[in-house]
Amino acid sequence: MAKPFQEGERLDRHVESLRLFRCEESSNDARKVLDEVFDRRTMTALYKLMSNGVIDHLDFALATGKEGNVFRATTPDGDLIALKIYRINTATFRSIATYIEGDPRFKGLSGNHRKLIYAWCTKEFKNLSRMVAAGVRVPQPIDFHENLLLMEYLGTDETAAPSLRNVELTQEEAEEFYKEIVKFIKLMYRKAKLVHGDLSEYNILVHEGVPWIIDCGQATLTDHYNANELLLRDIKNINRYFRSLDVKVKSDEEIMRLVKGVKK
Ligand SMILES: Nc1ncnc2c1ncn2[C@@H]1O[C@H](COP(=O)(O)OP(=O)(O)O)[C@@H](O)[C@H]1O
Ligand SMILES: [Mg+2]
Repeated sequence: MAKPFQEGERLDRHVESLRLFRCEESSNDARKVLDEVFDRRTMTALYKLMSNGVIDHLDFALATGKEGNVFRATTPDGDLIALKIYRINTATFRSIATYIEGDPRFKGLSGNHRKLIYAWCTKEFKNLSRMVAAGVRVPQPIDFHENLLLMEYLGTDETAAPSLRNVELTQEEAEEFYKEIVKFIKLMYRKAKLVHGDLSEYNILVHEGVPWIIDCGQATLTDHYNANELLLRDIKNINRYFRSLDVKVKSDEEIMRLVKGVKK
């Protein structure tokens, strides 16, 4: 396990000593990403997770985006987990600003980008917890610290679970997936009181033959002023995608009523 980090010690030396990536081949690329993209505080936070025994080492980057990166990591017990690191920068701030506006959970934080991004990370953790409790199939959240979120890893020892977009489904599977995803939208709305807000074939992974919803940071409370619009957009995205797979989809309005439990 990593040596506890002493304030004032040189972090880069520690980071070097962490052997962040066990596999040498992926290590060069991934280390470059870490060095270029993450600030000192993020590296310190990561170090803390390691010295606290939450993570033993990182395996490789699963995805690199404008707002952050997702890595596969291994715990000291040898379990595989996913680590999402939000980048502290203006791009991240911009992309989350519209969702934060009008959300009572963010009151009083508006001026401080770093604190907002920490709050955002907490929000993704809480959203995932609420979704799990509501019976929506999402990765189990494990822990969070500042801008770092740990959750259940979806995939095999070799590769991460592919997105729905990259999986070829049989007609029967496509119909089954559609039904289940509509059910998840409804459970989210009625039980978790949340609207995902960025649902599409990109934010659904296929793991062990079934769909898993991911990327729940932006999910908003159903009483948020934008919730209806976001819900309709999610429904339209799902309908568009499954229509393209020749699934007989219900109309957007019909699903909207179904989700909200409104009679015709
Ligand atoms: N729990 C997970 N297990 C495996 N891969 C994941 C997990 N969470 C995210 N990923 C991978 O990382 C990518 C980006 O994660 P996501 O939460 O969608 O963040 P972003 O906001 O960057 O889209 C996903 O498309 C997926 O490939
Ligand atoms: Mg995504």
